[in-house]
Amino acid sequence: MERLQKYMAGLGIDSRRNCELLIAQGRVTVEGRVAVLGERVEPGVTHVCLDGEPLENYSREDLVYIMLYKPAGYVTTVQDEYDRATVLELVSDVLERIVPVGRLDLDTEGLLLLTNDGELTYRLTHPRFGVEKEYVAKVKNLPGPAELDQLRKGIRLEDGLTSPAKVDILPNGLVRLVIHEGRKHQVKRMLAAVGCPVLALRRTRFGSLSLRGLHRGEYRRLNDSEIRELKDMCSSAQRQRT
Ligand code: URA
Repeated sequence: MERLQKYMAGLGIDSRRNCELLIAQGRVTVEGRVAVLGERVEPGVTHVCLDGEPLENYSREDLVYIMLYKPAGYVTTVQDEYDRATVLELVSDVLERIVPVGRLDLDTEGLLLLTNDGELTYRLTHPRFGVEKEYVAKVKNLPGPAELDQLRKGIRLEDGLTSPAKVDILPNGLVRLVIHEGRKHQVKRMLAAVGCPVLALRRTRFGSLSLRGLHRGEYRRLNDSEIRELKDMCSSAQRQRT
């Protein structure tokens, strides 16, 4: 048995959160009665409809997983209200309706995943699953031992204490920071809080995926073993946290 919203997301209907909304709006029925949020269904057996249509009738796009080396200057959104260039324009020859997994700031470059797999997007962005993200930052002042220590313990920001980061200074004078949360401007705010404002930021790793082999603006589809690794990583990251 599986929770209804998870089952729907797994079928590619929408993200888990959006499926919860569909259920809350009373648009989903289970065996002919209006579904209740959180109820469990038997995949492939329970008769589930969305807006009166059996879920099987929703043409399910093939799931695609794209890794992009986002250059600075592109907004991480599907459509920008100010008409700025979006990351979707960089992958315009992908025909499936993919969306970015999480966000990189306009001036941040680096690894961005895009997919139409709502369930994986949920897992990769929810703090519960604690997927590691590695960033390399050029900073105005290098952190000393006291600042490194603060970053390793957690920094008090206006939206609360951050989890401890892994941090070190690379031989080329850049700061490498590994975090598993995804708050807005988190890396910039953490480094600014210890007196080391960020001048340039690149995400070099997202869980098991690294940027290796890609140049700025390039993208490629993940292969089956990379997809499997990403999914496994979410499960093991959750296990470590519980
Ligand atoms: N942290 C930031 O400050 N910016 C990003 O784009 C990503 C993480």
